[in-house]
Formats: sequence, structure tokens, C-alpha cells
Amino acid sequence: MSLFIKSSSMVIKCVWLLLLVLLINNVQAQMKTFNVNQYGGVADGKTDNSKAFTDAWNQACQNNGGGVGTLLASSEYQYSVGIDHWIVFRYIDNLVISGGGTFDGQGASSWPYNDCRKNPQCKALPASLRFDFANNTKIDNITLINSKNTNIHLFAGLNVIISNINISAPADSPNTDGIKVGSSSIVQIYDSVISTGDDCIAFLPESTNLNVTNVHCGPGHGISVGSISSNSITGLNVRNCSFVGTQNGVRIKTKSPSQPGTVAQVTFENIEMDKVDNPIIIDQQYCASSGCSPPKTSEIQITDVKYNNIWGTSNTKIAVLLKCSENKPCQNIELRDINLNYRGGNKPAKASCLNAKGAAYGKQNPASCLQS
Ligand SMILES: *[C@@H]1O[C@H](CO)[C@@H](O)[C@H](O)[C@H]1NC(C)=O
Ligand SMILES: *[C@@H]1O[C@H](CO)[C@@H](O)[C@H](O)[C@H]1NC(C)=O
Ligand SMILES: *[C@@H]1O[C@H](CO)[C@@H](O)[C@H](O)[C@H]1NC(C)=O
Ligand SMILES: *[C@@H]1O[C@H](CO)[C@@H](O)[C@H](O)[C@H]1NC(C)=O
Ligand SMILES: *[C@@H]1O[C@H](CO)[C@@H](O)[C@H](O)[C@H]1NC(C)=O
Repeated sequence: MSLFIKSSSMVIKCVWLLLLVLLINNVQAQMKTFNVNQYGGVADGKTDNSKAFTDAWNQACQNNGGGVGTLLASSEYQYSVGIDHWIVFRYIDNLVISGGGTFDGQGASSWPYNDCRKNPQCKALPASLRFDFANNTKIDNITLINSKNTNIHLFAGLNVIISNINISAPADSPNTDGIKVGSSSIVQIYDSVISTGDDCIAFLPESTNLNVTNVHCGPGHGISVGSISSNSITGLNVRNCSFVGTQNGVRIKTKSPSQPGTVAQVTFENIEMDKVDNPIIIDQQYCASSGCSPPKTSEIQITDVKYNNIWGTSNTKIAVLLKCSENKPCQNIELRDINLNYRGGNKPAKASCLNAKGAAYGKQNPASCLQS
């Protein structure tokens, strides 16, 4: 028997050591289970169970354990418009979420309302899971499907581990980023599969000490550093990852114009690209909406970025595009053992550089365009 719980929006604050166990198909956990049904929840996929869930959660907080089943978000657009989350965990320490459960955002009926790229008055749809000011968080072995907007959004987190996560939303679903990380430090994301309509993982400003290992992305827009228009992102290693059919592979994007800032100490290593539009890309003239003014120069300094052992196929001829700022040329870019083939006919792939300084080592297919 599966338990389906539907809810529109929940704010969860709890300062005890928590263990939220998402149980499906009668899997029994060793800790006590808090059945949301016993707190007035109705598992019909229609009733809004926000209060029952929160009551069960509060009880679980006092007992170091909790339990729910597959959680279904409200499928109706009007219940979620203008709220930034479906479920949010705020000011929390030592939270663990695990157990193989599913968060079903039921986004399909809301996606058509997501017109923020064209409509400045648009109201954002909610992220499925938000973690705001959460320290020592572990999110392991859960599935998220069909989020209305971002799947997992970390904001101001410190020491966060995300592992064995399965995120899926259709390739054409708008803004369904897999994991967004902003203002956070010491974050590890590993052993996960992310298929969405937007970024696989996006790192936003004021984030540092970040590792992504063994993550498989696609479809979607790939792993993004930025976009950033001020402040900094430093210390990111993306290793042993693969990208299949994504718009980008590893991308650094900065807005122009911008405030001063930096993107530094970034390594992309041991990465397979399979049918990726832009496998390696730096874009310092990034513009997300149609109303951007003509490109001005970005004041974000990109420095110490290593691309090491990246291979596979590119859907476009320019497999390596390093479009840096005229005011702040990219410094210390390193290309090492790059082997990317263009899928169109027998033409070789090319690299294209603008204001990009650095050095290349080992195999270079396409030929490096870095200036020394
Ligand atoms: C998280 O850690 C920071 C830095 O140590 C601290 O200032 C903050 O109060 C902590 N927050 C919680 C919710 O424990
Ligand atoms: C995920 O949780 C399920 C249910 O508890 C369990 O059967 C499975 O082994 C777990 N998988 C991992 C990778 O921990
Ligand atoms: C991820 O979840 C989706 C939707 O439930 C499922 O179709 C897919 O097989 C899962 N992938 C993995 C690798 O578990
Ligand atoms: C990330 O990896 C680097 C290099 O392997 C390591 O020094 C650092 O401690 C790791 N950081 C986290 C948050 O895992
Ligand atoms: C990446 O994979 C290689 C080869 O399997 C392994 O030696 C290395 O430790 C892995 N790197 C990380 C950061 O897990």
C-alpha cells in the first residue's frame, strides 16, 4: 500500500536532530513512524494536508523520528502562485532526509503559467524543497518528480550533503532546475541522476567549497556556475560526471553589465559529454530574458579554471567557447586532455576564444584558442 499525501505549502522549523523517513510500499524503518493519516491527513491526492503534515512533523521533532509516504504537491496552480516553496526547512540543524520516498510536484498543469521570460509581472512558481539557513543537512536517497519550478533550492546552507538523488522532469518543463545552491558553503553533491528542463545544478553567488561527483545530467541545461552579476563563487570541483543530450555541459555564465565579483578555483575533471550542444562554455554576456540591452562588459573576474580530461561529442561545431569579458579577461584558464568531436558530418570541432588567457596541455581536440 502506498500513502499519498497532498499539500500546498509547508514551513518547517525544528531544531532537534531530525530524521524524516519517507516510507513507501510498506517499507518499515527501525525508528518510530509518524503516519500523517493519524494527524488528520487524507491520502486521496486531493485534500490539502499541510496542517496534518506539520503536526506530524512537530511530533516527530520531539521524538527524533518521523514518517510519511509519497508526497504530492497541490496540482492546482492557484494554490502555489507567488509562494517560493512547496516544502521549506528553515533555521534547522542536523536534518536528515532519506528513505527512498518521492516528492511529486505535480507541475504539469502549472508549467503553462510560467511565462517569466516574457512577462515581467509574472509570479514565480514554488520550488519543491527549499532549505534556508540549514546547517549540517543530509539529503539522501529520495526522488523528486515534476517539480513546478526548482526541485531543491539550498540557500545559506553550511555543510550539506546531497546523495543518491533521482530528479526528473520533462526536457521542455520551464525552470525546473535540479539543484540550486546559493550563499552556501561546504556542499557535496554525489551519486545522483538529474533529468530536467533547466539547469542540472546551478551554483549562485556567495557560495564556496563545493564538490559535485558522479552526477549524471540530461536532458536539461547542464551544470552552471552562475549566472552571477556580483559577489563570488569560489572553490568548486565537478568530477566524474556525465552529460547526455544537454544544452550545455559545464558552463560559467556572468551577466553584463555587472557589479565587480569573481569566479575562481573551479575544476571540471573526468567528464563525458554525449550529444551536448555546448560542452565547454564560458559566457560573460549572459542574458536570460528577451529584454536585455546590448551587451556591456562584465566586471566579474574569472580566474583559475581547469578543464581536465573532458571527452565525447558536441552537437555544435564550437565545442569549446570561452567568451570572456573585455574589461576583465579570463585568467589562468587551463585546458588539459580535451577530446570533443563535432557530430555534424566529418568537420572538425572548433574552439572559440574572446579575451581568454591561459595554457593548454596534452591532447587538444579542438585545437586550443587560449592566449598566453
Ligand atoms: C549555522 O551555522 C552558522 C555558523 O556557525 C551559525 O551562525 C548559525 O547560527 C547556524 N544556524 C543554525 C540554524 O544552526
Ligand atoms: C533507498 O531507500 C530504500 C527504502 O528504504 C532502500 O530499499 C534502498 O536500499 C535505499 N537506497 C540507497 C541507495 O540507499
Ligand atoms: C528516476 O525516477 C524516474 C521517475 O520515477 C524513473 O523513471 C527513473 O527510472 C529513475 N532513475 C533511476 C536511475 O533510478
Ligand atoms: C572537495 O574536494 C576537495 C578536493 O578533493 C577537498 O579538498 C574538499 O575538502 C572537498 N570539499 C567538500 C565540501 O567535500
Ligand atoms: C573519479 O573516478 C576515478 C576513476 O574511477 C577515481 O580514481 C577517482 O577517485 C574519482 N574521483 C572522485 C573525486 O571520486
